[in-house]
Amino acid sequence: MNTLMRLSPQLHHWRTYCIKQCAAAGTEAAARGKPNYEEFIDSRQQQAQRSIVVQVSSEKSYNELYNYCSRFGRIVTVQHYSVQHEDELHYMLLEYASAGEASAAISSSAYNAELSGSGVPVRSPFLWFRAPTGGAGRRGQAKLAANQKTLALHTVNGTRSLSHEALKELLRGAAGIDQQLNLLYEQTRLNELGVRMRFIAALQVEQAISGMFPDALAQPFGSSVNGFGKMGCDLDLILRFDGKTPGTDQDSQREASRLIYHTKENLSNGRSQTQRQMECIGDMLHLFLPGVCHVRRILQARVPIIKYHHEHLDLEIDLSMSNLTGFFMSELLYMFGEMDPRVRPLTFCVRRWAQSCGLTNPSPGRWITNFSLTCLVMFFLQQMRQPILPSIGAMVKAANTADIRVTEDGINCTFARDMERVRFQSRNTSSLSELLLQFFEFYSQFDFHNRAISLNEGRALAKPDHSAMYIVNPLEQLLNVSKNVSLEECERLRIEVRNAAWMLESEVENATLSESERREQSWGLLNLFKHPEKSVIRPNMFFKPRMVEVSDLFDKSQTSAPTPPPVNYKNSTVRQQVQSIKAAARSELKQLRESSTTTTTTATATSAAKTKRSR
Ligand code: GTP
Ligand code: MG
Repeated sequence: MNTLMRLSPQLHHWRTYCIKQCAAAGTEAAARGKPNYEEFIDSRQQQAQRSIVVQVSSEKSYNELYNYCSRFGRIVTVQHYSVQHEDELHYMLLEYASAGEASAAISSSAYNAELSGSGVPVRSPFLWFRAPTGGAGRRGQAKLAANQKTLALHTVNGTRSLSHEALKELLRGAAGIDQQLNLLYEQTRLNELGVRMRFIAALQVEQAISGMFPDALAQPFGSSVNGFGKMGCDLDLILRFDGKTPGTDQDSQREASRLIYHTKENLSNGRSQTQRQMECIGDMLHLFLPGVCHVRRILQARVPIIKYHHEHLDLEIDLSMSNLTGFFMSELLYMFGEMDPRVRPLTFCVRRWAQSCGLTNPSPGRWITNFSLTCLVMFFLQQMRQPILPSIGAMVKAANTADIRVTEDGINCTFARDMERVRFQSRNTSSLSELLLQFFEFYSQFDFHNRAISLNEGRALAKPDHSAMYIVNPLEQLLNVSKNVSLEECERLRIEVRNAAWMLESEVENATLSESERREQSWGLLNLFKHPEKSVIRPNMFFKPRMVEVSDLFDKSQTSAPTPPPVNYKNSTVRQQVQSIKAAARSELKQLRESSTTTTTTATATSAAKTKRSR
């Protein structure tokens, strides 16, 4: 730790140098028309600074709002969305041509007189458009008539996601499974407005503390920005007190300055200091920031986080202060998604399939997470005979000095940011549906028992410990991303991928339905997503072993849950193979049940013995 402290100024200078280099390299990439991750993040952050969010009575207020707000500058775009509370609340996200104009609109705002005394006067980009009052109102109306509206409202109800039924309808109308995969991606991914809202949420935190920490930077990461997020996904946010310093002109001046800020020394160790600071930030968000509610502090986790809900954005937010690897991991995923247009639609489908059969779950536990599942897809695309993605090792090898990134705690996150330098060109021409089938087949045969998945190497390695599933953490290679996954859940995954493989194979073989038949019945991906009821958290999930649920999947006679309609396999070989898989699964299940009874009995015996001893 002491060595790290001593190294810290050197690391800081090194990072400053690297980020400057990176900015230069980034400009080259932009000139080629393909923004890299940092440029993408940067442009979204600037866009947020040009934006305000105004609560209105309905989308009908648009003309009046547009005309009123035009007095502060040129409005570039306005998007409407609503949030369901007791009533439906309506908002407009409005972007100006410059940050100064947005700031002028914010500065012109008044505080709510009705709340004086009980409300805290806070400046933020979240505003409310009140009805015109008295003479000022009439003057406003006159101005409204004089100023002609020139811009159409860009979006109405921009955050409404497609209902399950509407999505089903759309997928039924597709021309084939490949089109279904693309439609699923296009229709369920996080849209433009969703991304803008997430960057405004980040800016609000940053601005709230900017007086004391002018270099603070709240950066979104995870599915909100890596291109794998769906509508309504949560926002992962990392707050860094020194985020803005490196690479700026002001930073170069500071390096030469003889005046040094007096600063409080950290008295406790790094982790408990971070926990204390987060507690304090959590209180500040809770007490002062408009829209922030249900603040929860989860400070004992490996990465301590503050969770909260933003009621003006209808958004769940996870704020951390010490998880820079998560940010760089998002960059890796973003790059993978950009490398080939098949990567994201395939991942979306796998995530939705996993959710529909209850393999993933929004609450943390012993089941596979979306992130681990995404790693499984990336690995599958790397290890193919004709790979679609390069290994991370190849990206590390191609890195130059501009790519060097080291986190505060010394974790090396260096890899080539410019794909042209990696010189990877895929010759794989498989269609999306072929890839999906190959994905299921690959994992139904994968030896989870003995092998670990390494995205760094792009091949399987010997498993270093007895975890049920082992995915080497790409940026901290001594850690296992899927350490939380239990043996039972890993087994369930194997069974489900096998089922999915058979199901999809028979769907491909039966792809001879007429157009009217396709519109009337479930086909293709719809048959993969057949168990939406399993994605719901049932209260008893936490009190009984989930293994019992596995039987629900196969043994219809033992289940009281509504059973899906039987699948009619037209191909007799497929029918026989499905029967034999089911039989094998039943016997595996029986074995698991027996071993669980033995384990429970042993556990009970051991705990009884312990109780005896302690008495
Ligand atoms: P959803 O929130 O389920 O939509 O997906 P997500 O990708 O945002 O996952 P999550 O919120 O769990 O994690 C946010 C980001 O943190 C991920 O996208 C990764 O970039 C990163 N991350 C999560 N878990 C790990 C891990 O174990 N190791 C590393 N290096 N990064 C991780
Ligand atoms: Mg997330």
